[in-house]
Amino acid sequence: MNTNIYLIGMPGSGKTVTAQALAHKLSKKFSDTDEMIVKRTDRAITTIFATLGEDYFRDLETEALLEVMKLGSCVVATGGGIVLKEHNWELMNGSGKVVYLKTSPDVILKRTERSADRPLLKAENSSEKMKKIIELLDKRSRLYEKADLVCVTDGKTSEQVAEEIGRMVV
Ligand code: S3P
Repeated sequence: MNTNIYLIGMPGSGKTVTAQALAHKLSKKFSDTDEMIVKRTDRAITTIFATLGEDYFRDLETEALLEVMKLGSCVVATGGGIVLKEHNWELMNGSGKVVYLKTSPDVILKRTERSADRPLLKAENSSEKMKKIIELLDKRSRLYEKADLVCVTDGKTSEQVAEEIGRMVV
């Protein structure tokens, strides 16, 4: 199959590690839109948000999607906000399957607790971070649920999640 598989979901839902494991299992290429943007701009994501703004970052995200569409046969780890633009859905739906990695706020908090490279989850302490996670989820759940497939990740390793998706997409 020459089509792509797009993993969507909140920061900390394990999109990158799962996409790597799934690409390996299905003998597809691995791509990561955040990684592509960092390479292309030679700047960290936090720097792009701080200096050029979120809208600029969102345009770079769409450009990264256009690139992976050209590549084809990729498992793509997307940034958590890829679902915000209707046009991104057209691109993803038109070039492959979209899979939502559904993760609970508690697990997201645990997985993102020590990372400082997610501008939208920047917080002074855990309770402030939890508030931000819940706010983002409230805004986005309805969009994430538009995926072709939903895979609950709580209590599973990235290998197990990749295994599950692998079975669902064939
Ligand atoms: C974002 C998620 C990040 C990154 C950027 C914005 C978001 O990617 O694209 O910080 O809007 O949720 P991860 O989901 O890989 O953390």
